[in-house]
Amino acid sequence: MTKHALSAEVICAALGDHPWARRLTVLEQVDSTNTYAKRLAAGGAPSGTVVIANCQTGGRGRLGRSFLSPPDRGVYLSAILRPTAPPEKLLHLTALAAEAVCQAVEQATGLRPKIKWPNDLVVGRKKLCGILTELSLDAQAGQAIILGAGVNCLHTPEEFPPVLRETATSLAIELGHDVDRSLLAAEMMRQLALLEEECLTKKSMWLKRYAADCVSVGQQVQIVRDGEARHAHADGINENGALLVTYDDGTHDAIFFGEVSVRGMYGYV
Ligand code: BTN
Repeated sequence: MTKHALSAEVICAALGDHPWARRLTVLEQVDSTNTYAKRLAAGGAPSGTVVIANCQTGGRGRLGRSFLSPPDRGVYLSAILRPTAPPEKLLHLTALAAEAVCQAVEQATGLRPKIKWPNDLVVGRKKLCGILTELSLDAQAGQAIILGAGVNCLHTPEEFPPVLRETATSLAIELGHDVDRSLLAAEMMRQLALLEEECLTKKSMWLKRYAADCVSVGQQVQIVRDGEARHAHADGINENGALLVTYDDGTHDAIFFGEVSVRGMYGYV
């Protein structure tokens, strides 16, 4: 086994007696950990069930995009959460998942990324991690939220395709040394478990931390809806994690995830 192989054993050892350690599946390769986790959720898998893969052949991103997931390079992780509140009370989870992963990256590596609204982790102007939240509704198994996160860990710049080279980065590139993906995965599990536990009881604390980490706030942004782009100032984050903006004509709006694509004006998109 290489020094930085993704290993269920190392992840579980790092988690100790944490309850999520009992419901972990580590796969060498899968189409998408989110798709796999959705199947487990439909089969009744409990909250805290986690799927991690060393490689995804069909990694999925937001807005129908794909997510580059080569072998031996990243942490591709999906967690099943079954919070008791109805979906409309959990809209902020999508944004706060980024805050949880941000915290995990810092705990595991010492590097604290920033967040590009709604839930990309960035270092400088480059993307380090993407997050895809999906709702799974099954008549028998009930409601589940699938939180999927892909963190670029060991990629060298040359390993990103030319179209991504200017906009993507990895922990190894930023830190100048390799990181232990298993320890990062364990920390991601800890922080996501904490988020599930506190997302209703400590919501405002989490949102405050999120807003402090979100680089989009206070910036000029471009909002693309149905192919039409409008410029706006990002004023803040509301209680659902929506981005509050003021357009150039002075009108205000609250932008929800999935509905639009928001770009920083000068750099990372
Ligand atoms: C984005 O950048 O738009 C979101 C990317 C989310 C990627 C992660 S990797 C683990 C999980 N499985 C997937 O297929 N997607 C998410």
